[in-house]
Formats: sequence, structure tokens, C-alpha cells
Amino acid sequence: TWDTVPLAPPDSIFQLTAAYKADPFPQKVNLGVGAYRDDDNKPWVLPVVKKANEFLLQDPNVDHEYLPILGLPEYTTAAAKLILGPESPALRETRAVSVQTISGTGANHLGALFLSRFYTWDGPKQVYLSNPTWINHFQIFRNVGIEPLTYPYYDPKTIGLDYEGFLDSLRTASPRSVFLLHACAHNPTGVDPTKEQWEKIADIVLERKHYVFFDCAYQGFASGDLDNDAWAVRYFVERGISLLVCQSFAKNAGLYGERVGALHVVAPTKQAADRVRSQLAVLQRSEISNPPAYGARVIALILNDASLFEQWKEDIKTMSGRIIAMRKELHRLLSEELKTPGNWDHIINQIGMFSFTGVNATQSKALTEKAHIYLTTNGRISMAGLNTKNIRYFAENLDKVVRG
Ligand code: LMR
Repeated sequence: TWDTVPLAPPDSIFQLTAAYKADPFPQKVNLGVGAYRDDDNKPWVLPVVKKANEFLLQDPNVDHEYLPILGLPEYTTAAAKLILGPESPALRETRAVSVQTISGTGANHLGALFLSRFYTWDGPKQVYLSNPTWINHFQIFRNVGIEPLTYPYYDPKTIGLDYEGFLDSLRTASPRSVFLLHACAHNPTGVDPTKEQWEKIADIVLERKHYVFFDCAYQGFASGDLDNDAWAVRYFVERGISLLVCQSFAKNAGLYGERVGALHVVAPTKQAADRVRSQLAVLQRSEISNPPAYGARVIALILNDASLFEQWKEDIKTMSGRIIAMRKELHRLLSEELKTPGNWDHIINQIGMFSFTGVNATQSKALTEKAHIYLTTNGRISMAGLNTKNIRYFAENLDKVVRG
């Protein structure tokens, strides 16, 4: 048995974590997975999460019963408000469906599965993904029989947005195509459209009647402001665009391993929302029955308590602020101190957890092999892996590989 099972390669992101852990070199640096680290390179339990933990420990009503199939209601309701905005027409008109999911990956999967089953496809089941995108998107859609295609997004010449190429794909894709858009802090490039560019994107999406599949894994990480980072999603909802949103609290609450996320489907009417909800409940039941309770309880406490919510915003500023400081320092080291050939302004122009450095696969491999610096071969670095102690080591080695 199993003689015919082909050997799959290890996951390109998580294999870096494993290789880094196994490496005994003292100055090793992990810039692979997008997980926040403090200035001592330690995972950071947010102070607000510690407080919420204390409340939960003391709460005599906490038990280990099943959550409802669609999740903890005080969590999903608050999570919807956080992303769609408390004044969202979709919430006012009770036409948003919110389901608790196994983090952002689970939201992507459930959203994709739902579309695969129920979207009225005019032709083959296809989704347009940005080129590049989070590598996992490809297999998530393939798993449910939706073929991924790509649209131009990143321009290596400018290390910025290929705006014209992007618009062109929106214009030429057949009407009612499904486009996956990163709501903010694009992974892996750190390049987001401006508000004016989003407006134009929305115009064409409406004209062509495309369906938008928003992935929002980094709310708060792009600008440090939760509302600002939800701008594109809220704007698209206001424009009446058909869409769904995948949400994750892995990064912005540091709850990676608790797998707390949500899928929000914005339907045109309450009646449509009721039908969508009923089918999502059937899908969820067959896949996971009931979502896990712990992370949802933590987030529900934080979102529904004014003082915890304020504290959370401060914690997000701590994380995004440290990342911005690292961007500035890396930029200074490369462009001023080491005078590394090339223009490094993209390091400070890109936002969110990642920077797309522009180094190629050979240079990236050289960084790993010669300097024990772990990054994906597309040149993406997780800015959170840099700190005041290792940034010079990284910059000097980057300088070396760039000079060849
Ligand atoms: C990443 O892109 O590094 C993160 O989103 C972690 C993951 O699940 O890949």
C-alpha cells in the first residue's frame, strides 16, 4: 500500500522554522514565517491577552461544552463589527453572515468551499490570485476544485505595485470572475494599493460584476490602526460589491496556535444571508462540527470590553511600531552606512509584517547557506524577525550577497 503516493516537498514556509530550530549557529536569524517576535527574538504574549486569560481563569461559568456550529456568537458578532465597521450597511441590514473558523486558513478554505459549491459559475471554477500571493492560497483553492490563475500585482522593476497590469486583468477577465484581494499588508510583498487605486479597482470590479474574496490576516499590522487597515473592505461593502472576507486573529492578537478566525459573507439581502448561513452551517458541521473555544473567548472579551479593547490597540501599536523602527534602521544601514548598491526605499515604503527585499533565489539561498539567515527564496523577509541585536548582522550579509 501507498506505493503510488508521491513524496511531497515540505512546506516552503514552515520548513524554514524547522531548519532554523535545528541550526546550532549562535547568530542564526529566522526571517521566514510571519510571526511577531519582540526585541529579544521571543514570541510575545500580548499584555491584553494575559489580562483576558486571567478573566477566563477566574470565570466560574467557563466550561468545555461544544460551541454552536457557527461559533461563539459574542465573538463572531464583535469580529464582524471589527472588520466591517460598526456602522456597516451590511450589519445594519443584517445581511452579513459570520462563521468562526480555524484561523485565516480555515476561513479561506470554508470561503473557497462555499464558492465551489454555490457560486453560479459561468465557466470553469477559477480564482484570480495576485502574483505573487501567500503560497498556501494555491492549494487551498485546488483542494476544493477551483483552479488558481494569477493577475499581475508586483512589479520587480519598481519593487512596487503593477497597477496597470492589475487593472488590465480586472478589465479583461470574464464578467463575474472571482478575485482574491489582500485587504491590507499584502503577503508577501508588503505593497498595498493607495485609497485612490482601491477606488478605481472597485469601479472596474463593479463594472465587470466580479466577486471579491478578501483575505485580511493583518488588520492593525499595516498602519497600526484597525479602522484604517479595514478601509478597503468597508469601502467595497459601501459600494455594494459582492464579497466575502477572511479574518484572522493570529497576528494582530498573537494567537497563532489558537486558530481563531472568521469568515464573513456579505450578501445582498437578509433572505440571501439566511440561505448562505444555513449552507455554511452544513459545510462547517461536516468539516469540523464546532470551532475551538479558547481563542474565541479571549477575542470576545477583548472586543466587547472597552478598556481591554483600548489596551489591545496599544499592544498592536507596540508591534507595528517596532516593525516600522526596524524598517527605518534597515533602510539606514543599507542606504547610508553600507551604501549597498541599489535603491532600498521600498523597505520603508512597504507595510505590514513583510518586506519583499528584491533579492533573488540565489542570493536568498546564499544568505541561508553562508550566514544562517532563513528567508523564503522569493526574497520575502518577516520584519518581525529583525531586532536591535541582529539587524546589523543581517544588513551586512545582505550587502555581501548583493555585491556578489
Ligand atoms: C506566513 O505567510 O508566513 C504566515 O501567514 C504563516 C503561514 O501560515 O504561512
